[in-house]
Amino acid sequence: MQIMRKLNIALIGYGFMGRAHSNAWRQVGAFFDVACEPVLKVICGRNEGELTKAAAKFGWQEHSTSWEEIVGREDIDVVDICAPGDLHLPITLAAAAAKKIIFCEKPLANTVDEAKQILAAARANGCVHMICHNYRRVPAVTLARELIVAGRIGDIYHYRGTYLQDWLVDPQFPRVWRLEKARAGSGALGDILSHSIDLARYLVGEITEVSGLLKTFVTERPLAGSGKMAPVEVDDAALSLVKFENGAVGTIEATRFATGRKNYNRFEINGSMGTIAFNLERMNELELYVEEGPESGFKTIQVTGEGYPYMEGWWPPGHIIGYEHTFTHTVLELIMAVADGRLPTPNFEDGVRNQLVLEAVERAATSRRWELVPQMKGMGNGEKG
Ligand SMILES: NC(=O)c1ccc[n+]([C@@H]2O[C@H](COP(=O)([O-])OP(=O)(O)OC[C@H]3O[C@@H](n4cnc5c(N)ncnc54)[C@H](O)[C@@H]3O)[C@@H](O)[C@H]2O)c1
Repeated sequence: MQIMRKLNIALIGYGFMGRAHSNAWRQVGAFFDVACEPVLKVICGRNEGELTKAAAKFGWQEHSTSWEEIVGREDIDVVDICAPGDLHLPITLAAAAAKKIIFCEKPLANTVDEAKQILAAARANGCVHMICHNYRRVPAVTLARELIVAGRIGDIYHYRGTYLQDWLVDPQFPRVWRLEKARAGSGALGDILSHSIDLARYLVGEITEVSGLLKTFVTERPLAGSGKMAPVEVDDAALSLVKFENGAVGTIEATRFATGRKNYNRFEINGSMGTIAFNLERMNELELYVEEGPESGFKTIQVTGEGYPYMEGWWPPGHIIGYEHTFTHTVLELIMAVADGRLPTPNFEDGVRNQLVLEAVERAATSRRWELVPQMKGMGNGEKG
């Protein structure tokens, strides 16, 4: 009997993404045929009490309050980073120096310079690396890409991406780390516009030029605990007009002030022969319009059951899946790439490319002019047919 290679995971952060990734690592082998078996070895955070509870709840063998002590451990294969943006650089550099497989949450870093350092270190040490833009792994989104690559909607004219949330509408919501520039890098821009940018690159192509508008509606907020006011240092909303290398044009918009919208991640792509539309709130569906003469019309494809991307691992047709499955599919891609000895996508190259767009939007917001997105040789979304 062949013994399956084990992948010992060290996960940094037990918050929102720490939970999502723990679940993904735990579920992937139970639903898909994986070539390597992930082992939930050690989880890291700062608060010993909370961490102990999280480790037991999510099923981690050990816990540690020092990422510095676990990242280079010989028995660790994968370093999975679910900590705030300012920690991505030091943790990835340490993990790269220790030649680990590195899985990092988005955005890759807080600046282009940091993102480039991360990519260079991962490359120099021959690391397998991946960034967690999990929305590529929604089966309906993967299907959208397959339809586009197959030419079903023809040449692409428009990309319209909106990512709308409302968790900051209340001015009394506290000044959390996501609103500190030194910790988060930016606001809605890096947090959620980065997802719309990744989807645009995955589905349409490279972005070459952008306009930019950043807005902070509430400029100070109470600190949790003391109630003292502290400045909000990042954008509440980020908007941009974009031009693509292939001639398509687009709009991308992200906000935390779209009252009533909780996690409204939507895109619409119009091509010469048809249109594709997706809304995360109805994530098992893909809308497709193709020109078919008098019988043309939008249809809703229910992306469930065998034959659709990733669905072979789940349920019979009509039995829907949810948000957490996108992370399971993402770690599945990482495991398959490790087994095949190749780089998964999206990886740190995509992270740098994304950060270049984010920074160009910031520049454009200041200059109030169109700004070019610096192009990097040999870069691409890695999945273009
Ligand atoms: N892929 C997605 O859709 C998605 C969604 C949300 C967040 N994110 C990204 O995930 C990352 C984490 O966000 P989150 O929402 O999970 O944040 P969170 O605040 O819920 O959790 C952050 C975690 O980091 C830990 N942490 C902070 N400083 C630490 C340190 N010095 N040492 C060890 N651990 C430390 C905290 O203990 C906490 O467990 C960010 O990069 C964010 O942009 C991605």
